Amino acid sequence: MSEAILTKAGSSPSADAQPRSGTEMRRVTLVTGASGGIGADLARVFARQGHDLVLIARSRTALEALADEIAVPGRPRPLVLVFDLLERNAIPEIAAALAAARISPEILVNNAGFGLIGPAAGLDLAEQLAIVDLNVRAAVDLTLRFLPAIRAARGKILNVASIASYFPGGPGMAAYYASKAFLLSFSLALSQELRADGVTVSALCPGYTKTGFQARAGIGPNIDLTRLPGSTAMEVAEAGYAGLIAGRREIVPGFHNKLSVLLLPFLPKAVVLAVISRLQQNRSPLR
Ligand SMILES: NC(=O)c1ccc[n+]([C@@H]2O[C@H](COP(=O)([O-])OP(=O)(O)OC[C@H]3O[C@@H](n4cnc5c(N)ncnc54)[C@H](OP(=O)(O)O)[C@@H]3O)[C@@H](O)[C@H]2O)c1
Repeated sequence: MSEAILTKAGSSPSADAQPRSGTEMRRVTLVTGASGGIGADLARVFARQGHDLVLIARSRTALEALADEIAVPGRPRPLVLVFDLLERNAIPEIAAALAAARISPEILVNNAGFGLIGPAAGLDLAEQLAIVDLNVRAAVDLTLRFLPAIRAARGKILNVASIASYFPGGPGMAAYYASKAFLLSFSLALSQELRADGVTVSALCPGYTKTGFQARAGIGPNIDLTRLPGSTAMEVAEAGYAGLIAGRREIVPGFHNKLSVLLLPFLPKAVVLAVISRLQQNRSPLR
């Protein structure tokens, strides 16, 4: 890798998807969880801004359709990699596939993630471990594995955390809130460690955003989510992109979310936990 010549993401001079010589690596933006929701809209925004992309998720059909949609004539089509990040070998295999294609991540977007609603004692153990595995382990593995390449490129990392990251805990979604608190803490620490290398690390912390997330989480269909102050996935993606490019450590899209983050440190933890518990109970079919 140290001998490789790297071309800048989004400014490849060649229309050819192939690198120009045997030692040249093409720099890309890698987005996990790109098959829908916030990840797909992040991919759309990156493509619009001229980035060459690698799209990762489990749903091949959705990824291929997105790659066709955002492909720009005269530029390499986004590379689709169909992987389940919960599979133990997935991340080494992704790294091998990129190396074989002479592709190197300059920007990494750790977006794939999910949560489950319900009391921790009542939810399936394997599913809760999968939350930790996907939201935490996969993001850490991808980050540290690609860090040498990102550092060499003076690149960027965007971790999609959540407004949940700022709460003292999330009764009714305990593993999910804890995973997102980890991701914010990890991002902030890395942002400091990598500052001198010219690498920026940003945590994108959306609040309620209407995507496939709610159905996957098992949020009760009896809840009228449209009454919540929310953002669209595209609003979140655009805020995320702007914050990433500006090198901001924390990106909280939406006025209500910004206000919550400002006020939270002044509220007693017991009160916040009780309010969250009440809210999640009302949304959970497992009450
Ligand atoms: N929506 C919200 O209200 C909200 C709020 C705050 C934070 N977030 C965070 O935003 C991120 C994106 O969520 P979203 O709202 O866009 O939800 P979404 O529509 O459910 O998208 C989740 C993405 O992750 C992928 N994914 C899930 N499991 C995977 C696995 N095992 N391996 C590889 N990819 C996997 C999914 O693709 P496949 O199913 O094709 O694999 C999909 O592309 C998540 O980290 C979430 O925690 C969401």
